[in-house]
Amino acid sequence: MIKKGLFSKMVATFTLIISISFIIIATFLSYWFEGYYFQQRKAQINSESGIIGKAAVEYLEGDISSYRLREILTYIGNYLATDIWLLDNYGYVYSVSNDKQKKLIEKQVFTNELEELRKGNSVEKRGAYGNIFVVPVHTYGMPIFYNGTFKGAIVMHTSINEIRGPLKKVYEIIWASAVLAIIASCFVIYYFSQRIIIRPLAQINYVADKISKGEVDKRVNINSKDEIGALAESFNSMADSLEKIENNRREFISNVSHEIRSPITSIKGFVSGMLDGIIPKEKERYYLGIVYKEIQRLTRLVNDLLDLSAIEAGEFNLRIEELELNEFIRLSVIKFETKIKDKKINVNVCLDDEDLFVAADRDRLVQIITNLLDNAIKYVNEGGNVKINTTKRGKKAYVSIFNDGPCISEQDLKKIWQRFYKEDKARSSKVSTGLGLPIVRSILTKLGEDIWVENVKNKGVKFTFTLTLI
Ligand SMILES: Nc1ncnc2c1ncn2[C@@H]1O[C@H](COP(=O)(O)OP(=O)(O)OP(=O)(O)O)[C@@H](O)[C@H]1O
Ligand SMILES: [Mg+2]
Repeated sequence: MIKKGLFSKMVATFTLIISISFIIIATFLSYWFEGYYFQQRKAQINSESGIIGKAAVEYLEGDISSYRLREILTYIGNYLATDIWLLDNYGYVYSVSNDKQKKLIEKQVFTNELEELRKGNSVEKRGAYGNIFVVPVHTYGMPIFYNGTFKGAIVMHTSINEIRGPLKKVYEIIWASAVLAIIASCFVIYYFSQRIIIRPLAQINYVADKISKGEVDKRVNINSKDEIGALAESFNSMADSLEKIENNRREFISNVSHEIRSPITSIKGFVSGMLDGIIPKEKERYYLGIVYKEIQRLTRLVNDLLDLSAIEAGEFNLRIEELELNEFIRLSVIKFETKIKDKKINVNVCLDDEDLFVAADRDRLVQIITNLLDNAIKYVNEGGNVKINTTKRGKKAYVSIFNDGPCISEQDLKKIWQRFYKEDKARSSKVSTGLGLPIVRSILTKLGEDIWVENVKNKGVKFTFTLTLI
């Protein structure tokens, strides 16, 4: 499809260009050629006019017969392929070279032009000549002077077709070479368009088709330094990001399925155990408790996923209001009281003296602080310290949450923001999904805020995020 379309368009364009240039060349050439030919003709006629003029004078003087004069005229007329007339000083014809024009003898053919001739100038005309010459002729008249007196004129008519004959030959040559040039350029165009445009485009097309069918690892291999090369390059980078998205999607689905499968498997196992009677009646309550926890975990997972996809799809309408940050933090810490006591954690809340009014969405802010506190409490050592800090700097409030414990390795520092990423898979698999931090970061990004993590050397980990003060 592409091949035929582009090629025929290019051939049409080139044919047009070649034809136009050849027409221009032919026009110029014929113009020049005609001028040149007439010039040559005039020179020839001028050189012959001496002989004719002499013969005319001899005739007028009575030295030669009219027969002899006509003989001379006929001879020269044939030789130059022109019709020659001799006029007397009143413009009357008295001799012609061509027998067919004998009836013109004794007729006056020149009147107006006679004045010019009398002055010694030659006259020149082009076009049909009365009813004598139907086809256009080139007429050239020269005066004859003898001893200083005007003795009449020589008039020569050359058929313009006579001149155009050789010109036709030139045209034929021009057109033949135009056709040859068009054929040759077809071959050249075919070769180059194949190499430069058609084959690369076909390759891009082929790869695009493959990618659309799911083979996202396919790339085009074009290294030219032109626009097609640039197209191939951007095509490849588009394919790269498509591949990345596709891989993310696959990984995401496998992660989600994996996370959902384990609670479902255990729920299924316990429930079927109870139904089959393998689990004794008195233990049913205990196992129901486990099943309930698994269901809670599933619910949390599904809610987290829905939240995350809603935030990322931009379907989340943040209800921004004025919130007092310190108060929020106090309330959030209280929610974790039991966990804090269980783990014997020492929580140190150090809040800014002033009230910090920030612009945020109430529920989302709770989610951020809860997720970060949950992590701190989860990853802090038994009996360790958790420190929560708020400060004001410029137009921003900074909230940092620190906990004692092992530092996060350099490579994990970037990965912890990815969905489903858990540093220690064995330890946290039961309680974690690895969606906490991605949710926190998505919300903060939506709010136009920032969050980062740093290792406090040999002590622990500190997460800090910003909020805008009102
Ligand atoms: N305060 C922290 N101290 C040490 N490591 C942390 C801390 N917070 C997060 N991490 C690391 O980052 C990983 C990702 O945290 P994230 O909150 O996203 O998931 P999670 O806590 O494992 O699961 P979820 O929050 O969904 O229950 C954690 O598994 C942990 O390895
Ligand atoms: Mg977490």
